[in-house]
Formats: sequence, structure tokens, C-alpha cells
Amino acid sequence: MKPEIGLREDVERVLIDEKVIEKRLDAMAEEIDREFPPGPIVAIVLLKGAFVFAADLLRRIPRPLDIECLNVASYHGGMESSGTVKFLDHALPDVKGRHVLLLDDILDTGRTLKAVADRLMEEGCIAVHTGVLLAKDKVRAEDVQADYVGFEIGDEFVVGYGLDYKGRYRNLPFVGVLKG
Ligand code: XMP
Repeated sequence: MKPEIGLREDVERVLIDEKVIEKRLDAMAEEIDREFPPGPIVAIVLLKGAFVFAADLLRRIPRPLDIECLNVASYHGGMESSGTVKFLDHALPDVKGRHVLLLDDILDTGRTLKAVADRLMEEGCIAVHTGVLLAKDKVRAEDVQADYVGFEIGDEFVVGYGLDYKGRYRNLPFVGVLKG
């Protein structure tokens, strides 16, 4: 049997550790709860990357939440955006007349958030408010910003806390950079 491929051994450096993430999520949840109009929120979690971030953030928001997931792909497993956003579900959640909190792991080119937010608006939601754990400091392909950003990072490929390389490293509790 082949030895298990290491996780932490593959990491060159930790960019944002678990404790720092937790503290920031407390503040983000408080901000979201304060700024959203009263009433239940529809939270839409983009799979797979945002599942860890969303689970930790949404449990901190003390109001009724309708939580939905959407399966989209733009990286197709590697380190570069493919340039196209694929919707992998047959149907979108019902968002008609609702305020939506759209959550993704990272804002990179901006194509994913833009494509999904546009589709949700076409479905008749009142507004899409976007939240990301990370935003890369770079010129984006799409003119899009996130309303709630956990951390600004440099333009480098990161893994952990939901983010993967070829499907791995999502279960690292921190955000880090892989060895080259
Ligand atoms: P766009 O370019 O559409 O990117 O803003 C959003 C999606 O691209 C993936 N992505 C990354 N995944 N490490 C990753 O593991 C990264 O550094 C990275 N940058 C972008 C991610 O799936 C995100 O939802």
C-alpha cells in the first residue's frame, strides 16, 4: 500500500491561521446581521470551495436562514481559472422576492460571483449581497466586488479551509500556500 500523501508536509507557509479566521468570522457575522434587512436570509453557498467558510460563518448569524448550495466550477481542478463558469445543478434555488447572501471561498477573476449573481437576479431576487473569505488583490476580469470580505491576500494560489488543489487540502484548518 502506498503511504498516505501528507497534508501539512506539502504546505510551504501558513497565510492565515485558524484563530485569526475565527476572530474575523465573528466580526463578519456581526456586520452581516447588522446590515441585512430584518427577516430570514437566503444564504447560497457555492460548492465545493465555500463549504467550510459558510458552515463557520452561518452558524454565527443569529437569525433564521434558508441555506441552499449551488455547484459551480471554474478552476476544474488546477491552479488557473478556466475562464468559464459551469453551473452543475439542474435548477437554481427559489429566490424570487428574497434578499440573498451569496458566499464563495475566494474572489479571484470575479467571473464566478458575477455569473452567479447575474443568474440569481434573473431569477427575481431583490438583491444579491456577496461574501467571500478571501479576495485576491489583482485586476479582475469582471468588474465585481464582494460586500463582505474576510481577508485581502496577494495574487497567489492558496489552499485549505475549503480551498483545494486537485481536490485535496480542503480539510486543512488554515489557509496556506503549497510548496512549489
Ligand atoms: P473567480 O476567478 O471566478 O474564482 O473569481 C473563483 C473560484 O476560483 C477558485 N479559486 C481558487 N481555488 N485556490 C483555490 O483553491 C486559489 O487560490 C483560488 N483562486 C480561485 C475557487 O474555486 C473560487 O470559487
